[in-house]
Amino acid sequence: MNRRLNNLSELINRSAINHEISIVVFTGAGMSAESGISTFRDQNGLWENHKLEEVASIEAWHRNRALVLDFYNQRRRQLLQVKPNKGHEALVEMEKGFPNLQVITQNVDDLHERAGQTNVLHLHGQLRTSRSTGPGEEVYDIDGSELTLGDTCPNGFQLRPNIVWFGEMVPAFEEALSLVSQCDLLIVVGTSLSVYPAASLLDYVSAQTNILLIDPNEPSFRGSKRIYHFPAKASRGLMELARLLMP
Ligand code: APR
Repeated sequence: MNRRLNNLSELINRSAINHEISIVVFTGAGMSAESGISTFRDQNGLWENHKLEEVASIEAWHRNRALVLDFYNQRRRQLLQVKPNKGHEALVEMEKGFPNLQVITQNVDDLHERAGQTNVLHLHGQLRTSRSTGPGEEVYDIDGSELTLGDTCPNGFQLRPNIVWFGEMVPAFEEALSLVSQCDLLIVVGTSLSVYPAASLLDYVSAQTNILLIDPNEPSFRGSKRIYHFPAKASRGLMELARLLMP
């Protein structure tokens, strides 16, 4: 059983906090929910309204490129209309006191960066960039929201969304693993921890490292590690945490 916290100070008082420690914040779709971006697996989530295998796999891309491009064009259009929320802002505030703070996100939006976060590692790619389907797999910024059939890299290869689809390798995983295995405090925000290998990052923290889950629902993940669950939305949980860490 993960330990449920009624108050974040219970955990902070028990952790050895100083400004040199390395904090990793691992975020998922719940981090951006209060900005107005749907999560994947909640009621009315993206995967309730779309068949995952029809839009987010390499098979889908080979079967119907236009459909896949359209799905991500819609996501990009939505992203251009939303803003970072108070949770993103609280993390930027925390970075001022903890310069080593590192965000690892499963999100493909750029809301952490737009809030002003410095160190952000994207595990599942980025919506606002495209990738060449040629052998070099070069990455390009997308101007605006649309990526369409016929948009090619300078070498003439079709551009695809720069998203890590189901069944694909996660190129940033090794780096994430190294960051997590060295951190002194792992804060996990707004993820159901149901997608691997991302969720397995929690298995790599050291035995002395506390893991704090901030999520209105308790994620299904169970480990023998020191896992504490604070049931709250990202904005409330992170604002409270920032207040405690940066009095
Ligand atoms: N604040 C914090 N957490 C929230 C909020 C909120 N306001 N609203 C919802 N949540 C939580 C839910 O309780 C749930 O645990 O966010 C989590 C969302 O889980 P998922 O929809 O499964 O999203 P995520 O874990 O990020 O998915 C992982 O799956 O489909 C793929 O590649 C996609 O990166 C994604 C990966």
